Amino acid sequence: MKHSKLMRAIIFRDYGNPEEVVKLVKDCKIPIPNKNEVLVKVECASVNAADRYIVRANYFIIRLVFGLFRPSKNKRILGMDIAGTIQSVGQNVKGFQVGDAVVADIRKSFGGGYAEYATVNTKYLVKKPEEASFEQACTVPISGQAAMMGMILCSINPGDKVLVNGASGGVGSFGIQIAKAQGAYVAAICSTKKNEAVKSWGADEIIDYKKKDSIKALIGKEFDAVFDTASFEYPGRYKQILKKDGKYVLVGGDFYNMLKVKFLGRFGRGSQKFMALTQKVEVTTNIKTVLEMIADKKIKPSIQKVISLKDVPDALHSLEQRTVVGKIVVNLNKEV
Ligand SMILES: NC(=O)c1ccc[n+]([C@@H]2O[C@H](COP(=O)([O-])OP(=O)(O)OC[C@H]3O[C@@H](n4cnc5c(N)ncnc54)[C@H](OP(=O)(O)O)[C@@H]3O)[C@@H](O)[C@H]2O)c1
Repeated sequence: MKHSKLMRAIIFRDYGNPEEVVKLVKDCKIPIPNKNEVLVKVECASVNAADRYIVRANYFIIRLVFGLFRPSKNKRILGMDIAGTIQSVGQNVKGFQVGDAVVADIRKSFGGGYAEYATVNTKYLVKKPEEASFEQACTVPISGQAAMMGMILCSINPGDKVLVNGASGGVGSFGIQIAKAQGAYVAAICSTKKNEAVKSWGADEIIDYKKKDSIKALIGKEFDAVFDTASFEYPGRYKQILKKDGKYVLVGGDFYNMLKVKFLGRFGRGSQKFMALTQKVEVTTNIKTVLEMIADKKIKPSIQKVISLKDVPDALHSLEQRTVVGKIVVNLNKEV
């Protein structure tokens, strides 16, 4: 099937400051799905920390994946998760049809979500429940999914005490709500301006790291699990506030901390377990679970604002400035 029409998209042709290198263009070719793919009309996409890391390319691994000196031509459209409607299907596609409302993590195809259309292999597609809006659903594939995977690794039981670090961010906002839905007591670390929002997501206790050293302040309390989305200090510090058989799960933060936890150190004492996020459960399974929780009103994505495509560079700047609370959503139907 041929598409001669062009579409709007957010692209980056160079690495650097998002406000300078991330641009809205109106002449991108609409992609053509292969036989195992569908063409999705993107209704909404969500803004993720990954977008800003990719644009800055501060970590060499990003250049290895996206292009050494500048992003390769086929990896220039940003946006890693989408919710939309199927427009056409490839000849081998089964189980999905034109008109289906779907959700997808499109990291494996190096993005493409900040565009009017995206092609997605059916193995990454999940049907959107009617009860979840497109704006809510697009926040799930990366942030909601990572939070669900992390909380599964934390193996929470009702009554457990969980500490969430980076609690005010996209993943933290889901992490708190998922842990609460599983019956945990949640302590949350965040900066002063975000205390109220984090409380509103259900946190039982707020530790404001701007006012005190959060780990020092928690000594004497023993947590069953630490869920860390902002690992910017030595992870081993958490052993002091974990139970003897407690679990520390690193979801995000400094890339080198992630490598250290994954491959190097024994950070814990006794039978404490320090883990970096690993995909023990299929991404699509976790996405379905989180979408069901939204549909059942057990959790509610926290959307700080809904923006149009042209405002993506601004949104990436806000993420870098750490003024975002929860998630920012891009609605492709909003006026440009
Ligand atoms: N592996 C995966 O599948 C996966 C999926 C999603 C995200 N992640 C990773 O998880 C991390 C969090 O993602 P997110 O979407 O929640 O990001 P986010 O929305 O930017 O939130 C991160 C939060 O961490 C806090 N923070 C503390 N120190 C920080 C620092 N030095 N720099 C930036 N933030 C800091 C900030 O809150 P305060 O202002 O309150 O400190 C911020 O709200 C990122 O590293 C991301 O790459 C991994």
